[in-house]
Amino acid sequence: MQESKPTDSVKVGIDKINFYTPNHYLDLIDLAEARGVDSNKYLVGIGQSKMSVAALDQDIVAMAANAAEAMLTDGERQEIGLLVVATESGIDQSKAAALFVQDLLKLTGNLRAIEIKEACYGATAGIQLACDYVRSHPGRKALVIASDIARYGLDTPGEVTQGAGSVAMLVTRDPAILVIEPESIYESRSTGDFWRPNYSTVAFARGKFSEEVYVGMFEELWEKAQELGLANPENLQALLFHIPFSKMGRKGLRTLGNGKISEADYARLTERFEHSIVYGKEVGNIYTGSIYLALLSLLENDNSLKPGDRIGLFSYGSGSVAELYFGTLQPGYRQRLDADGHRTLLDNRERLSMSEYEAMFSAELATDGSQQDLGRSDPAAGAPHYLASVKDHERQYR
Ligand code: HMG
Repeated sequence: MQESKPTDSVKVGIDKINFYTPNHYLDLIDLAEARGVDSNKYLVGIGQSKMSVAALDQDIVAMAANAAEAMLTDGERQEIGLLVVATESGIDQSKAAALFVQDLLKLTGNLRAIEIKEACYGATAGIQLACDYVRSHPGRKALVIASDIARYGLDTPGEVTQGAGSVAMLVTRDPAILVIEPESIYESRSTGDFWRPNYSTVAFARGKFSEEVYVGMFEELWEKAQELGLANPENLQALLFHIPFSKMGRKGLRTLGNGKISEADYARLTERFEHSIVYGKEVGNIYTGSIYLALLSLLENDNSLKPGDRIGLFSYGSGSVAELYFGTLQPGYRQRLDADGHRTLLDNRERLSMSEYEAMFSAELATDGSQQDLGRSDPAAGAPHYLASVKDHERQYR
């Protein structure tokens, strides 16, 4: 049984949200052809159409800063007292990625800067920590950035579910987008469904098993939410899922079919689910940011939601930690969105040939301390932050 968090009258949640993805992608029809697979397996069976590919200069620090840069005012930079970078693609075993990001975003020194890791659940841990922080620190804000590069390796079953990108969220009191409820349902359980040892640049997965754990934990949390009266489907206007690939979220949602909830509720959640996967289908798995990319995709591609609508979020991180939590859309949330800007970001990416993708995937930073200067992968798109070089085992950003 979960304990209830103390409810209090202070409203906290997501006040701003933005995302960044590198400016190269692989079309999955090209991948299917190269791997000798029927393209419908990727387009329909997996449910993805493209995946973003990161060049060396867009590591998780550069992407994180690029996601947050455009959305922060000077005043907000002064008010941020907690900076969380959630990632499972960390660049250092000791120094938090958040410290590089703090520097690039010119935040003050008067803040806690930390990195959080728990596979794709990390950003949700960051959001919950941030909500608690702003509840207990009047006048301060928290910046949570999910930043990851999903890598399984060339010609592996997971290859089609790779991707790269970051989602930045400003968590405040009286937020403009989503008030997050203090009560939620969560569970941690050690499983061997997906992992990446320190010596490996690619993840290992027991693919089918990982799908079973994901679906099983969703079903358990949904049941608990029913028992606690937290997830009355009639009062739920949308249900978001962690989206490693769109079919996975669909499998979670389908567990509510077959009479578990009314046909009308299931139809409404399914229609909204389609809007939540628009961006992810073109970006791929961005691990811990995926569910927040789904949130952004829903808000920017759905015209029927309105302030006051309640949304459920099922966050899953392999290994495994899952949480089901809820939030309510706020008046004026649409003014905070940038659907045109995000569509342009996606449409302006350069399509890679298979050989260009394989070369980009296989490129590595020097590990012997020598100096390596990197070219800019997107001089035209002009991402403000990038990794310029490595020297003496240190990354130098601009
Ligand atoms: P696979 O071996 O290619 O799977 O691996 P498959 O052969 O079963 O095919 C996949 C689907 O395509 C199946 O549909 C086929 O029927 C269908 P399903 O039964 O699943 O509904 N299919 C076709 N459909 C239409 N036309 C066709 C056709 N052919 C086949 N011609 C797998 C797929 C996802 C397992 C693999 O890509 C993988 O291992 N991915 C990585 C692991 C993963 O993403 N797991 C998801 C759950 S765990 C999670 O979400 C956490 C994670 O994000 C990590 C973290 O937390 O940090 C991964």
